[in-house]
Amino acid sequence: MTATTLVHSAQQLVRIDADGFDTVENGAVAIEDGTIVGVGPTAEVSREYPIETADVEVDASGRTVLPGYVDPHTHAVFAGERVDEFTAKLHGTSYQEIQADGGGILSTVRAVRESSLAELTDHLLTHLNVMLAHGTTTAEVKSGYGLSLESERRLLEAIERANDRHPIDLVPTFLGAHAVPEGQDADSYVDRVITEQLPAIASDDLATFCDVFCDEGAFTREQSRRVLEAGLEYGLTPKIHAEEFARLGGAQLAADLGAVSADHLLQATSADAAAMADAGVTPVFLPGTAFTLDTEYADPSLFDAVGLPVALASDFNPNCYSQSMEFAMALACHGMRMTPEETLSGATRHAAAALALEDGTGTIAPGAPGDLVVADVPRFEYVPYNFGVQTTDTVLKGGEVVYDD
Ligand code: NIG
Ligand code: FE
Repeated sequence: MTATTLVHSAQQLVRIDADGFDTVENGAVAIEDGTIVGVGPTAEVSREYPIETADVEVDASGRTVLPGYVDPHTHAVFAGERVDEFTAKLHGTSYQEIQADGGGILSTVRAVRESSLAELTDHLLTHLNVMLAHGTTTAEVKSGYGLSLESERRLLEAIERANDRHPIDLVPTFLGAHAVPEGQDADSYVDRVITEQLPAIASDDLATFCDVFCDEGAFTREQSRRVLEAGLEYGLTPKIHAEEFARLGGAQLAADLGAVSADHLLQATSADAAAMADAGVTPVFLPGTAFTLDTEYADPSLFDAVGLPVALASDFNPNCYSQSMEFAMALACHGMRMTPEETLSGATRHAAAALALEDGTGTIAPGAPGDLVVADVPRFEYVPYNFGVQTTDTVLKGGEVVYDD
C-alpha cells in the first residue's frame, strides 16, 4: 500500500529546486512513500492527489512551506559544559587565551573521555530535538572531542546510534585533527591520526568525511594536507575549517584536494574564492561563531563575485551554543547583509551541496525526499526577519509529521 501525504493550502510554498528559487501562492506538496511526487498550486496537486484520500493531511493555511533545513557543520556530540567560558569571554578573555589555558576544546575533550557511549548518545539526542524544533531535518555531526582512537570512535558510534533513533538524518564527519591533545606535539599527533585513528574509523565505516582544523593554534596547512590526503586514501572526502582566525591557505588546500566544502572563511580573499570556484568547493559560513566571538563576519561578496553560492550552518558546539538554523539565517541577513532568498537557499539546497547530497535533499521537487518545514509566517522573508523566535511550526521527514508545535 502506498502511503501518501498532502501538505496543502499553504499561503506560500517556497519551491527551491535545482533551477533556483520561486514561490507559489496557495501551494501544495504531495509525498508518496517518503518521496515528493507533486508540487504546485493546491488546485492542481489535489486533482491528482485528492485531500480526502491522503493518509496524512497537513492544512498549511496562513503558513509558509519550505524545504527542511540542512545544517552542514555541527559539533553536536559532546559532553560537559563551558558556560563559564562564555562569561569570561564577555569580560574580554579571547577564545585563544581560553584554549591556551587548557579550556575550550580541551575541556570538552576531558568531559567526553569520561562519558559513556550511552551518555554521549543521550546528549546528542537532546540537542537533535532542539534542532528539529527549529526546522533542521538533515545535519552533519563531527567527532573531534576525543582525540584518541577509543574516544573518537565512541563519538562516531554515538552519532550512528542517534541517527538510528532520531528523525533527523545525520552525516558523520571524522575530525580527529581538531586540536592537539595535552602533552603531545602537533606532528606526532598527526601521525597518530593517520596511522591509528583513520584506518580504524574508515574500516568500521563510521564517517563520510574527514575534516581538519587548519588554523593558528591548531594545525598548519602542511599538517592539514597530510590528514586530508590520508583521509582520501581511506575513501573519506575532505572538508576543512579554513581561514577562521588566520589565513593559512586552507581554502586553496581545499581546492587542491577537491574538498566538498571549506568552512568559516572569515579571512578568505578573492584569490581563495576564485580557487574554490574553479574546484567546485562549497563555502560554508558560520555566522553564529562570529556572533558569539564578536569578530567580523565572513564576506559573501567575495563568493558572489565568482558565482559561488554560499551554504550556511549553525556550527553548534559548546563555544557557539545555538542549535538553530533559524538563528543562523537571521544572522546571515542581519550581520552579513545576505538576502532572505540567499539565506534560505544557503540553509537548504547549498547546504546539501556542502554534504554532497545528490538525492534532492534541501529542495522541493519531484523525486526529492519529503522533508518539509511548515513555518508559522505569511511569507519566507519572515523566517530571518522575525529573529530570535521559533518560526517552525510543523516538520515533516520523509512525508511523516515528526514535529508539531
Ligand atoms: O568550528 N574552530 C574549531 N572548532 C569549532 C569550535 C569548537 C569548540 O570551541 O569547541 C568551530 O568553531
Ligand atoms: Fe567547526
